[in-house]
Amino acid sequence: MDMRRQVELKYYIFESIQHLTAEDRTLLEEALHFADKSYSPYSHFQVGAAARLSSGKVVGGSNQENAAFPMCVCAEQVVLTQCGALHPDDPILSMAVTARSTLNTEQKPVSPCGGCRQAMVEYTHRQGMDFRLLLGGSTGSVYLIEKAQDLLPLSFNPTDL
Ligand code: THU
Repeated sequence: MDMRRQVELKYYIFESIQHLTAEDRTLLEEALHFADKSYSPYSHFQVGAAARLSSGKVVGGSNQENAAFPMCVCAEQVVLTQCGALHPDDPILSMAVTARSTLNTEQKPVSPCGGCRQAMVEYTHRQGMDFRLLLGGSTGSVYLIEKAQDLLPLSFNPTDL
């Protein structure tokens, strides 16, 4: 008898933004809109993110870079920080993230960096519930991950302390 358990990441791939529900499509469009506001003169990689809160409010942001490279802030963390600072009692239900490079025409859904995944896991613990993630490029397919925590398996989180 095999005593091992296999753990898998499940996510959904939609052919395009047109296949999303109207609510998810609007959120991804908001993220695209925020990507226009990216300050990324060094990487030329424009990232936009938008979170839908329980109240229906949408909070958006984009990556903000600095000539001192380690000081760059990712779009997801701009959004999480605003949500935590301004709307701490209004949980995030869904976050959409999108990116495009002005150097590279390849279109694929953006994959949040490790730091952003850790920040998302922290936020899910803080608000006492997980949230959905929609990942897109400026065109093309869209990924849906139903639980942001799933993007960081075996995470170090507040329950470990
Ligand atoms: N970036 C994000 O905004 N989110 C991510 O998940 C990955 C990376 C930004 C940081 C930097 O401004 C640029 O993309 C290139 O790394």
